[in-house]
Amino acid sequence: MRTRVGIIGAGPAGLLLSHLLHLQGIESVVLEARSRDYVERRQRAGVVEHAVAETLRGAGVGGRMDREGLVHHGIELRFDGRAHHLDFPDLCGREVVIYAQTEIVKDLIARRLADGGKILFESRATAIEDIDAGSPHVRFTDGAAEQVLECDIVVACDGFHGIGRASLPAEVVRTFDKVYPFSWLGILADVPPSCDELIYAHSDRGFALHSMRSEQVSRLYLQVPNGTDTAEWSDERIWDELTARFALADGSWELKRGPITDKSITPMRSFVTEPMRHGSLFLAGDAAHIVPPTGAKGLNLAMHDVMLLAEALTAWDRDGSTTLLDSYSDDALRRVWRAEHFSYRMTTMLHPDPQGGDFERRLQISDLDRIAASRAAATEIAENYTGLPQV
Ligand code: FAD
Ligand code: PHB
Repeated sequence: MRTRVGIIGAGPAGLLLSHLLHLQGIESVVLEARSRDYVERRQRAGVVEHAVAETLRGAGVGGRMDREGLVHHGIELRFDGRAHHLDFPDLCGREVVIYAQTEIVKDLIARRLADGGKILFESRATAIEDIDAGSPHVRFTDGAAEQVLECDIVVACDGFHGIGRASLPAEVVRTFDKVYPFSWLGILADVPPSCDELIYAHSDRGFALHSMRSEQVSRLYLQVPNGTDTAEWSDERIWDELTARFALADGSWELKRGPITDKSITPMRSFVTEPMRHGSLFLAGDAAHIVPPTGAKGLNLAMHDVMLLAEALTAWDRDGSTTLLDSYSDDALRRVWRAEHFSYRMTTMLHPDPQGGDFERRLQISDLDRIAASRAAATEIAENYTGLPQV
């Protein structure tokens, strides 16, 4: 099998890249280890930055997002029993869209298949070879036989546990890693959200986040110790703990409860690979970097990587220019490090460190107080949350 651009992974990064290339007349094949059903069900991100939403609209795949997504004009920070609202249009003139990653994935798969695109599900890449030689190929297996995909460029969009990153020569790669001493227990519940906008809550009992998927479905998260098993958390225990962490001092807010349909654990990690390219192999999205989800940046960063790559591959395909391909890694990493910084800041400001003491907690409250009191501090959060400035 032969194609111009071989893409590993049908997550949001691989699918958007394949679609953007198609719009420029560039052929690609997407290899995906899992089934279509599996990738369309996997619960993940929910916040889409303004610029990413604009890209989806511009590429003709934003229709359902605009009909069913929820435009949010701010978030609420809750701490010390108080609520503080950040008004995004007022602070930075932008907003975000709440639209589940699974829905973006469904929209992109449907569109690629309607356009005659090739996505090979249940086809796991096992090796990426000859990336120095200019005619790379990917070995993959569909369970029955091993096959080879020959291409001019390979883009690994195969997430944190894929083979892309490990296929870069060890001597050229540097990685940066931080594992946090807590995880998130995430739930999906068939209950209307108890708020109009997302609530990020700091409390002595731990962090909690109230997000949503629709007018009928809520998505909530609790900070839990690493190694937590969802079996330790009955539905009642989860709702009681959420209620305690979101409580306001004046008792003026109530959390609605409903049937929980999904429970999962997400470890918190920051991770960066440098460079994001070697020879004809490029990395994009979680294959190259991970952020803790507190800043809502992972999906958005993955989309920004492939927006850059699509432009670079278009210039290369049109007139053989490699200028943008050559600067891809540096260009992408500038945004990656800004997103890493913001995600680290949100995470360390909002999660009490289980090893920390009262001193650290007071510092967190002081930091949150400054955001509530200072327009400059609030603007910085709003700008970074809705899209990263100056990258
Ligand atoms: P992935 O979505 O991981 O896709 C990689 C694909 O490659 C997968 O389909 C996988 O099956 C496939 N694959 C792997 N190995 C192989 C192989 N060898 N051969 C073939 N295929 C392979 N981000 C945000 O921006 N906002 C949020 O609100 C947010 N919330 C989150 C909440 C949670 C609970 C979690 C877990 C993550 C969240 N994120 C958020 C992060 C976001 O989901 C990820 O950053 C995003 O999925 C990255 O997309 P990707 O396409 O790079 O990788
Ligand atoms: C989500 O809706 O899943 C979500 C929202 C905001 C975050 C993380 C996850 O920061």
